[in-house]
Amino acid sequence: MVELRRHFRGETVLITGSDGMLGRAFVEAFAELSEELRVIALPRRRLDVTDRSAVLRHEADAPTVILHCAGMALADACEIDPNEAFRVHVDGTANVCSLAHATSARLFFPQSVFIFDGSIVPVDESTMPNPQMVYGRAKLQAEQCVLDEAPQGLSVRMAGFFGGDEKDKNFVGHFTRSLAALLDAGISECEVGGRRWQPTYTLDHARNVLLLLARSCSGIYHMGSPGEASFHDVATACVEALGLTDQVRVLLRIDGESYHEAALRPDRMVTATTRLDREGLNRQRHWRNALGEYLERPHFDQFRPPSRRFK
Ligand SMILES: NC(=O)c1ccc[n+]([C@@H]2O[C@H](COP(=O)([O-])OP(=O)(O)OC[C@H]3O[C@@H](n4cnc5c(N)ncnc54)[C@H](OP(=O)(O)O)[C@@H]3O)[C@@H](O)[C@H]2O)c1
Repeated sequence: MVELRRHFRGETVLITGSDGMLGRAFVEAFAELSEELRVIALPRRRLDVTDRSAVLRHEADAPTVILHCAGMALADACEIDPNEAFRVHVDGTANVCSLAHATSARLFFPQSVFIFDGSIVPVDESTMPNPQMVYGRAKLQAEQCVLDEAPQGLSVRMAGFFGGDEKDKNFVGHFTRSLAALLDAGISECEVGGRRWQPTYTLDHARNVLLLLARSCSGIYHMGSPGEASFHDVATACVEALGLTDQVRVLLRIDGESYHEAALRPDRMVTATTRLDREGLNRQRHWRNALGEYLERPHFDQFRPPSRRFK
């Protein structure tokens, strides 16, 4: 923390997509760090990254660090509307790279493991990307732009977030909301699939990325909580952490994983944090510890039995 405070003192940090799962985590990570830096948090309504002149107008803010968290993060939405996916990811990222270039800002880019085809697990920095979906193809092209165009571009690849409270669009967000609906309807069992991933807390991710920036890291890193998990494991952990084990039983669905998705995902997607480990920069907690802390946030009070609510 002391190192991060010292490093970011006096910096101007610009965050695109600041009201998304990851953008919010960076805003929170900076809030706990220091008041002696300037954070320009830009949700989509204040900056659409596909609007080149709007992006370049921020040259006047002279950002020294840009965290490019804007993106069309839902793979199925990208599959359904590839033109929009490429516009947001590729054109939007090219605009942000131009801003970084114009202001000599360091640029962070969050990359998805869906640039890989799932044939090799775990993937690390030396694994060759081979995207099988529109989202992965667009993100790979965007990453290339960051690495080619941005001064000290940093791309951090990871395999699935939880975080963002009501903005959580991933499994933990969906599951906790569906759990509440289930309990309201008096249903005491639910079925969850066994797809394996690497649940990573956005706040842990953001704090670890700040360390990489403080150490002037650039290029490609893989990052993720140690310990892979199935959706079923994570659902069971959510039920336990929320104090609902007496009320809900989570069953493993073994029906061939009917996820009804437009974008085809591999059944298992996990990263190896080879470069982080080698450079002594891995600050990720086990997903169970991080998930436990996340579910203690006030947002989740609505899903807890009254006796388990935090003040
Ligand atoms: N979620 C994951 O597990 C994961 C894993 C690896 C990498 N990533 C990457 O991390 C980045 C952030 O994802 P996230 O998980 O935080 O998703 P998120 O919660 O959907 O955040 C993305 C934010 O970008 C905004 N946005 C969309 N189009 C925009 C545009 N044209 N201009 C400006 N803002 C725009 C979204 O606004 P609206 O909500 O209003 O559309 C949203 O606030 C994305 O690039 C994603 O590809 C995510």
